[in-house]
Amino acid sequence: MRKKRLSLIAGVALVGLALAGCSPAGGDTDDGNANQVEVFTWWASGSEKVGLDALVGVFNEQYPDVEFNNAAVAGGAGSNAKAALASRLEANNPPDTFQAHAGAELTDYIAAGQLQDLSSFYEENGLNEAFPATLIEQLTSDGKIYSVPSNIHRANVTWVNVDVLESAGIDPNVAPADMDAWIADLTRLKDSGIKTPLALGTEWTQMQLLENVLIADLGAEGYSGLWDGTTPWDGPGVATAVDHYGQLLDFVNSDYVGLDWDAAMQLVLDGNAGYNVMGDWAEAAFVQAGQTYGTEYTTWATPGTEGIFDFLADSFTLPEGAPHEAAAIDWLTTISSAEGQKAFNIAKGSIPARTDAVASDYPAYQQTAMTSFGEDTVVSSLAHGAAAASSWSADLSSAIGKFGADRKGDALIAAMVSAASSALG
Ligand code: GAL
Repeated sequence: MRKKRLSLIAGVALVGLALAGCSPAGGDTDDGNANQVEVFTWWASGSEKVGLDALVGVFNEQYPDVEFNNAAVAGGAGSNAKAALASRLEANNPPDTFQAHAGAELTDYIAAGQLQDLSSFYEENGLNEAFPATLIEQLTSDGKIYSVPSNIHRANVTWVNVDVLESAGIDPNVAPADMDAWIADLTRLKDSGIKTPLALGTEWTQMQLLENVLIADLGAEGYSGLWDGTTPWDGPGVATAVDHYGQLLDFVNSDYVGLDWDAAMQLVLDGNAGYNVMGDWAEAAFVQAGQTYGTEYTTWATPGTEGIFDFLADSFTLPEGAPHEAAAIDWLTTISSAEGQKAFNIAKGSIPARTDAVASDYPAYQQTAMTSFGEDTVVSSLAHGAAAASSWSADLSSAIGKFGADRKGDALIAAMVSAASSALG
């Protein structure tokens, strides 16, 4: 798997080119600039970049001779990055490593023959023991492992502005028991004069909100059954969820369609909204804003999802034809190391994928997530590549976006039924 590195001098000569954005053509050819690694993510700015920077800090310490070449493409959840990556892979011009979600999304890349087998890397580094078996399962296909996880995120978190709730006489420390109880509190907030009780953003954040409602209304087993055909999309559980989701949309900011997750969360940060449902990368945004967990903001499992951990994990790959394989392996080594995981996950709001991490090293929010991951029923996130193949989630995403505009519940259900039947056959 490793290629011989060419001389440092040749590498230095080409660094200028790479920094100018002229990445060499991909494929299996070595361009002579072995001492750089082009890392493709969507952690381009704000609190997301803070996480990436923490990882790069450890990488620079562990591999001071390898230049980190940042190929991040902005847009939450990879909303722009995934298309840009697909064009590069299509043109046989892969980066040295790219971010991919564990689970169904990764399986798409494996099935397309775009990834190299990392099983021997796992063996050499003792990684089969370092990561939980359930996670390794999501990274494995036909007995081979294809990526290295950097973190585990939770997608069923409701972020709460303490002052906003208290101003309406709602106790921020008590999560409503279910969707109906939450809708009652949202109504109370609205009646008290809060214009935007619930913050929302662009299409993928809508999909994540509906995913949360589906988990709340179907339970862990019912929700998981949506992805293997054992729960019908035209059954009563999904109908209830669509109805609840429609009710939630009555409480959101009117400009939601145009906001990425961070702009939507800013409404909560600024006290202009009471709640936002978002993955726990949002923790990094609260930390960056200098807010204190438990005082200015708090979190709960989204109402109705207590005891369930809606899981996703970012992982990094070694694409077929990566121009700098040895440097990519260096990057994967940093990610898999205890130091890399600790620096990255403290900054990113996620919990480490490694099981040897020490909970007390982490801030208060991550400690709650670690406990939940250990105790709760784990389900796979739709909006973040764990539950459904990319084509299936793209179909669902556009149907959910359309529902925001026309509010036709029957049409949304019909579109979801048809998406499931194309995906599952
Ligand atoms: C997810 C990703 C997270 C975070 C989030 C928002 O898909 O797994 O790490 O970056 O998108 O962009």
